[in-house]
Amino acid sequence: MRTVNVCVVGVGAVGLEILRVLRQRNFPVAKLTVLARSARSIEVDGASYSVQAISPAAFDGKPIVLFAGTEGEKGAAVTFASEAIRRGAICVDNGADFRMDPSVPLVVPEVNPEDLKSHQGLIANPNCSTIQMVVALGPIHRRFKIRRVIVSTYQAASGAGSKAAEALLAETAASVQGKPLPPPEALPQRIAFNVFPQIGPFQEMGYTSEEWKMVKETHKILHDDRIAITATTVRVPVVDSHCESVYFETEGPATVEELKALWRESPGVALIEEPAYPMPVEAAHRDEVFVGRVRPDPTVKNAFSCWVVCDNLRKGAALNAVQIAELLIGL
Ligand SMILES: NC(=O)c1ccc[n+]([C@@H]2O[C@H](COP(=O)([O-])OP(=O)(O)OC[C@H]3O[C@@H](n4cnc5c(N)ncnc54)[C@H](OP(=O)(O)O)[C@@H]3O)[C@@H](O)[C@H]2O)c1
Repeated sequence: MRTVNVCVVGVGAVGLEILRVLRQRNFPVAKLTVLARSARSIEVDGASYSVQAISPAAFDGKPIVLFAGTEGEKGAAVTFASEAIRRGAICVDNGADFRMDPSVPLVVPEVNPEDLKSHQGLIANPNCSTIQMVVALGPIHRRFKIRRVIVSTYQAASGAGSKAAEALLAETAASVQGKPLPPPEALPQRIAFNVFPQIGPFQEMGYTSEEWKMVKETHKILHDDRIAITATTVRVPVVDSHCESVYFETEGPATVEELKALWRESPGVALIEEPAYPMPVEAAHRDEVFVGRVRPDPTVKNAFSCWVVCDNLRKGAALNAVQIAELLIGL
């Protein structure tokens, strides 16, 4: 089998999961280079990796680069992606910096793999909360045309990076032991024994950046700006795996049985039948997007509710990026 040199940038929550996924899926890696801001040795599931300090020259001879660094002006992808592309790489970025750039495909392999064809060296991985929603709603939209979505999320602390997941554990331990809590740093509020409706800064009309991501990224991935979407994104004291309560209306007539039949055969989806339902403790470390609690709205025709749960670090980030890389090398 053909093997390729692969470079992973960032060894935080997503970067470590990428290393895990590459190994678990036997991605045909010739040489693996791991980059971060500072050099060190790390261990993931018993395997040792030598992390090098990032530099432009580190991208030479790396046809596949998976970015999982922080976002923004000083972030890894903004600083180094164009350099890596100039040196011959195709880059997949987990951050938000390029997602809405019209020249950058935003891809979920189960939903819009055809968009990969138009890439110019950079492909964006969607936001974790968007990925799980479009894996669930993509097949429904294709068959029945969705005209409206109302989504409320219950998002894990690890969605804000490894420091936020550590903060949840540290705050929980301090609370239980009756010690003073450290001031919140990785998240805007304390997270232990708390729930808060803010993910990202507040933007237009009082919605947060995460809420707008769910709207705009879904439109881009499904190629349909006409879907009316409104989101409320909420952080909950769970380490791993996001939950979403998703309400949607279809244009075409649909039944719960038809929706379930579609989900049973949709790639990447695992339908959980009543009386069971998906939960973070069971979705964590799994690849599937779990869909359950499927029910009709008794007050509105062709309107339904469901409950969607997915490991935000896995399909919500690392696995989706590795699946894109698999498509790029023709696996
Ligand atoms: N967490 C999630 O569920 C999730 C889901 C979807 C997308 N994302 C996105 O994925 C990206 C990574 O998130 P994360 O949660 O893994 O963050 P994280 O835990 O904070 O880790 C960030 C990693 O990036 C490295 N880094 C930061 N700036 C860099 C630079 N300029 N050059 C090289 N390395 C740099 C850091 O290096 P050092 O270790 O040396 O400091 C660190 O290893 C973010 O853009 C995030 O928005 C996250």
